[in-house]
Amino acid sequence: MNNPQLDRNGQLKHLLSIEGLPRAILNQILDTAESFTGVSEREVKKVPLLRGKTVCNIFFENSTRTRTTFELAAKRLSADVVSLNVGTSSQSKGETILDTVDNLIAMHADMFVIRHAQSGAAHFIAQHVPADIHVINAGDGRHSHPTQGLLDVFTIRRYKPDMHNLRVAIVGDVLHSRVARSEIHALTTLGVPEVRVIAPKTLLPTDVEKLGVQVYHDMRAGLKDVDVVMMLRLQNERMSGALLPSSQEYFKCYGLTQDKLALARPDAIVMHPGPMNRGVEIDSAVADGNQSVILPQVTYGIAVRMAVMSILAGNTEAA
Ligand code: CP
Repeated sequence: MNNPQLDRNGQLKHLLSIEGLPRAILNQILDTAESFTGVSEREVKKVPLLRGKTVCNIFFENSTRTRTTFELAAKRLSADVVSLNVGTSSQSKGETILDTVDNLIAMHADMFVIRHAQSGAAHFIAQHVPADIHVINAGDGRHSHPTQGLLDVFTIRRYKPDMHNLRVAIVGDVLHSRVARSEIHALTTLGVPEVRVIAPKTLLPTDVEKLGVQVYHDMRAGLKDVDVVMMLRLQNERMSGALLPSSQEYFKCYGLTQDKLALARPDAIVMHPGPMNRGVEIDSAVADGNQSVILPQVTYGIAVRMAVMSILAGNTEAA
C-alpha cells in the first residue's frame, strides 16, 4: 500500500505516524539521534545542518515539551524558526488551516510541525503542501504522536539496550492516548517481545490485543517483573461521560506508588510523557525517585527531533 510518509525511494518525506513505518526507518532516526545527543552539551549548541531552512511550528493545541523541544531542535540545527501563536493568529478571524499554511508557504517555509486536536490534521496538511515541503505530526487528537513514541523508545534503548529482551508496561488511559498508540507501534516494530497495557476496561480501546499487546486490568499483576513502566495521564479533555468513579479511586487502583513499583524488576525504569498529574496517575515519590527517567525523556526529545528534521531535510552529516 502507498505510504504517504515515504517517497518513491522509500525515504522519509513526512513524519505523520509510526504505524506503517519500517524498522529500518525507526532505527535510522534513533541512530541519527545518538549522534545529536552531544550537541546540547557543547558550549555552542549548534550544528549547521538546516542553515537557510525555515521551520514553522503551528500548535493548535497547548504544549510545553513538544513545542519547546521542536523549537530548540530546529534552532540547534541552525534553521530559522517561526512558532505561530494560534491564539493571536488570524485563525481567530476565521482563516482556514490550509490558508494559514499557504501563507506560510508564501513566506518560503520548508517544514511544518503541526499539533491539532483533530486526528488526521497533519495528514491533511501533508496532502496539501508542495512536494519539497515536509510535515511533522506533533500530536493529532487521539491518533498519533510519533516523535513522542520515538523519544520514548530512544530513552528505553539508552537505559535498556537489549530491546529484544524486554517487558514493557503501559499504564493508564490508553483509550484517549496518541502517545500509547505511537509507543505500541514503535516497540512492536523494534521487536520488543512483551508489551503490556494495564487499565480499567473503560480506558482501553476495543480490540486493543490486535495491536500485539497483553491486557491486564489488575495493576499489581501487570507490573510483575517488567523492565519499563510507562505511565499515562488521564486525558480528561478527550473524555465524554464518566469513565471512572473518582480520581482518588483511580489512584488507589492504577496510581504508581513505590509499593506497586516494587513488583517490577528492581532496575525497572519509570517513564511518563508529561504533563504529569501527581497524585492521580503517579505518586511524587516515584516521579522524583531514582528509577524515574521522566526528565531524561524530555532531554532526549531534542536529539530525536533534530534527527527527524535533519533526515527530512536530507542532511544528517555527523553532528
Ligand atoms: N508529551 C507531550 O506531548 O507534552 P506536551 O503536551 O507538553 O507537548
